[in-house]
Amino acid sequence: MKNVVLCGFMGSGKSSVGEALARLSHARFVDMDRAIEAREKRTVSDIFAQDGEAAFRRMECDTARELAGRPGLVISTGGGTVLRAENVEAFRAAGCVIVLLEVPLHVVQHRLRHDRSRPLLAVPDREAAMRRLYEQRVPLYRAAADVVVENRGNVPVRQMARRVHRAVHAFLHAGRRPSAPDAPHQG
Ligand code: S3P
Repeated sequence: MKNVVLCGFMGSGKSSVGEALARLSHARFVDMDRAIEAREKRTVSDIFAQDGEAAFRRMECDTARELAGRPGLVISTGGGTVLRAENVEAFRAAGCVIVLLEVPLHVVQHRLRHDRSRPLLAVPDREAAMRRLYEQRVPLYRAAADVVVENRGNVPVRQMARRVHRAVHAFLHAGRRPSAPDAPHQG
């Protein structure tokens, strides 16, 4: 199985669905934000506060490049990862399948209403910030994705993982060229 890369907005379920998908497909699960935090020994919020967003984005690029080429992974990206073309290219070049977990804005707003871990939402009007980012990003997520799976938040995580699994298989199957008839033997 090729590496599966889950992308989508903050709160779309990338990490929880990714973990369940990895279990289902006997792959290893890697959450990019957690991988960066482990390497940096500080939280994403601290990285943003101390070094700025641009520094975090560079770490994200390095991590994407590094993970893309390792076999047998389900990778959950951060909500901003696939907005950078070079990250998408790194995943594509390594043959990863990019899956968008598409979640309605109101579900995200509800899920993240008490969240304090996301630096981009540490603003007075969180709902407006989410709406603005969501509207900017949805077209970019769709452009990056090979497969789109809707996650309205009303389906258990394991069931979502099974849906993603099936969708990835369908994509890989459809993408394969139909088997050619045997070439005539020479001589
Ligand atoms: C970000 C999303 C976060 C994290 C960082 C930036 C974004 O990840 O990478 O706070 O730009 O949307 P989650 O999508 O896992 O919240």
